[in-house]
Amino acid sequence: MKIKKAVIPAAGLGTRVLPASKAMPKEMLPIVDKPAIQYIVEEAARSGIEDILIILSRGKSLVEDHFDRSPDLERHLEKGGKEEMLQMVKEISGLANITYIRQQEMKGLGHAVLCAESFVGGEPFAVLYGDDVIIGEDPAIGQLARAYETYGLGCAGIKEVSPEAILKYSSMKVSPLDGNCYKITDMIEKPSPDKIMSLFSILGRCVLPAEIFDILRETPPGAGGELQLTDAMKTLARTKGMIGVDYTGTRYDMGNKLGILQASIEVGLKHPEVGEGLKEYLKALVKTL
Ligand code: UTP
Repeated sequence: MKIKKAVIPAAGLGTRVLPASKAMPKEMLPIVDKPAIQYIVEEAARSGIEDILIILSRGKSLVEDHFDRSPDLERHLEKGGKEEMLQMVKEISGLANITYIRQQEMKGLGHAVLCAESFVGGEPFAVLYGDDVIIGEDPAIGQLARAYETYGLGCAGIKEVSPEAILKYSSMKVSPLDGNCYKITDMIEKPSPDKIMSLFSILGRCVLPAEIFDILRETPPGAGGELQLTDAMKTLARTKGMIGVDYTGTRYDMGNKLGILQASIEVGLKHPEVGEGLKEYLKALVKTL
């Protein structure tokens, strides 16, 4: 079954990137010249997703403005003969059919996904975490959607992380299947060192069957008193099994300060307009460090 719907939870308070996220949604923080969430919507659109639900909260309507038409700006660019810029601006509002809903209380990622139930309407759907940007030739969520079509089981994007990092993330019990796919039969959120199952962790993407909503409703609040999506996926993995897809592409965590800097530098170095200039600047700078 083709995956046509995606949910982007972007309602979180973003406390790790304060004060930047005080009035500005962290999902709108730019990587060079594009807000993080635009990379994510583009990834979904390139993967064949047609309908996107973005979960927002109070003070985040800037996200809606960004994906809306901008008649004043468009007129101004048209008058000035700035054809290329005009096309670029128009394309943003035509990327996908985007709707929005507000999560009224930020009770966790699992709770945010639960808000998408009526939008999803019984079909399997993609989840792209609003602060995880993944850059690569083959869009990451498309790789997961293909795995879903092949195996018919919920899929999670997984990557190996360092033994230090796994303590802050989730750890998967995996056995290898084909290529970059693994069977996941169990998982644990923020494991203590003796509970680590593997260094594979879920990072930023999943494709889930609609039965996840019933599971979420039965799942008690977990870490930080929040309803954790990982806790619901654990139930899915233990009962039906899930597929882990070690996707290709580089993931940038826009929810923490170092991640934002790494994204700016790496994407900046490849940027056609500023790449060369940034390289020269960095070469000179590292000599002084
Ligand atoms: P995070 O846990 O990284 O977001 O959730 P957060 O709560 O904003 O982060 P900190 O810890 O305060 O810095 C991953 C994604 O899920 C969304 C966030 O917006 C982010 O894109 N999210 C999180 C929601 O939509 N609702 C929530 O209740 C929590």
